[in-house]
Amino acid sequence: MSAGQRPGQAANPGHVAIIMDGNGRWAQMRGLPRQEGHRRGLEALRAAVRNAGELGVRILTLYSFSTENWRRPATEVSFLLGLLKRFVEKDLGELHAAGVRVRIIGGRDDLAPDIRRLIEHAETVTRDNTRMTLVVAFNYGSRDEIVRAARQLATDAAAGRLDAAAIDEAMLASRLDTADLPDPELVIRTSGETRISNFLLWQAAYAEFVFTPVLWPDFDRAAFEEALAEYRRRERRFGGLSEPADRAAGAA
Ligand code: IPE
Ligand code: IPE
Ligand code: MG
Repeated sequence: MSAGQRPGQAANPGHVAIIMDGNGRWAQMRGLPRQEGHRRGLEALRAAVRNAGELGVRILTLYSFSTENWRRPATEVSFLLGLLKRFVEKDLGELHAAGVRVRIIGGRDDLAPDIRRLIEHAETVTRDNTRMTLVVAFNYGSRDEIVRAARQLATDAAAGRLDAAAIDEAMLASRLDTADLPDPELVIRTSGETRISNFLLWQAAYAEFVFTPVLWPDFDRAAFEEALAEYRRRERRFGGLSEPADRAAGAA
């Protein structure tokens, strides 16, 4: 068991990751185009960052675009990319002023140069902020992330920089996009879907999952607080025993 992973009652999570799902259905229910759902989803994202800060969440990871989302119609993909670009351009100053460090995880090599520059700019400007970390998962897929890490390790081993026998969990984790971030204690998915959709497969190995039927554009402060309350009701055991059972076993 690694440090900090003690069994017991869960306190408030320091790192919350959210699969923001249900924008399309939110719009559809209102007879609006899907784009309107995404626009409202961006408002919910802004509110979530604010609420996370106020609720004491130090790291917030948001799944904004998956490696699989490229399969959507080209018009929707370009709308989503445009929305993300505008978000970074428009909100970066405010995030920076609020002490938010911005990190983007996901593959970068195949991104358009303007998007890559924007991502690098956002990270550089906010690098030294310490109040809160906002991690945006963009062009992110866990399998892709793990493959990229494995490729790096293999390259180093082949070049003689690394002994393959020395590869352990910590070393692999250090090659992931999340290298310097602690694992999320809580993963929330909105919209009632109960799957992980290629999100943080490695990092969420022992996360608690909260699935809420609330569609992402409706995910407000109350919904966020309810998810945190649900998390606090969980007992985290990390493969060990619950505390009374642990004491009983020790006494036997
Ligand atoms: C989440 O909402 C936003 C992204 C995946 C980019 P969806 O667009 O998946 O909304 P639904 O699932 O179709 O309702
Ligand atoms: C997961 O939502 C990806 C993001 C929220 C960015 P999707 O709506 O793409 O997931 P599936 O296709 O329903 O699994
Ligand atoms: Mg969806």
